[in-house]
Amino acid sequence: MKNFEQICKDRSSIRKFIGKEIEKEKLYQVLNIIKTAPSAGNLQAYEVIVIKSSDLKEKLCEAALNQDFITKAPIVLVFVAKKAESFIRYGERGKVLYSIQDATIACTYAMLACEAIGISSTWVGAFDEEKVIKLLNCKEEETPIALLPIGYTLAPKIPLTRRKESNELFREI
Ligand SMILES: Cc1cc2nc3c(=O)[nH]c(=O)nc-3n(C[C@H](O)[C@H](O)[C@H](O)COP(=O)(O)O)c2cc1C
Repeated sequence: MKNFEQICKDRSSIRKFIGKEIEKEKLYQVLNIIKTAPSAGNLQAYEVIVIKSSDLKEKLCEAALNQDFITKAPIVLVFVAKKAESFIRYGERGKVLYSIQDATIACTYAMLACEAIGISSTWVGAFDEEKVIKLLNCKEEETPIALLPIGYTLAPKIPLTRRKESNELFREI
């Protein structure tokens, strides 16, 4: 497996997938890495839905402004924040912040885990939340925060997309 710095440097959003399926073991590797993610109070107030059904991928694509690479990915992971679980312990802050952060960190781990084992991904945040909630039968207070189509690619490595200058991002006081 690549070292952490290399994983971060090599990862970029890939929106072209080839037909190759993701091996079961590799999927489990990614899911097991997600499980190592930290979460507020260790509540793990998120759920990851693993979607392989072509029909569901088509519907998700339609709910996500027809970003059609979603349908080309062999698997789409959907990260759902479970607001009610966090609310019980932390009240409003748990509901509106911690559960979202838990799901966000989980998705970030998934992206890096994929890169580490040669699988590409793109975080998809532009979607109609209500449509996705309906498609996935989410319960009350469960909010999908990201779709992550994952798969193999033949696309050439994209050099790191532009980043702000350090002085715009970091401030030492
Ligand atoms: C919160 C969030 C939402 C995003 N939503 C989308 C999206 O809907 N569609 C898409 O193609 N890329 C989406 N991206 C990917 C970004 O465009 C991409 O990460 C950014 O341009 C930097 O490029 P890189 O990932 O290749 O480094 C999203 C990324 C984040 C973190």
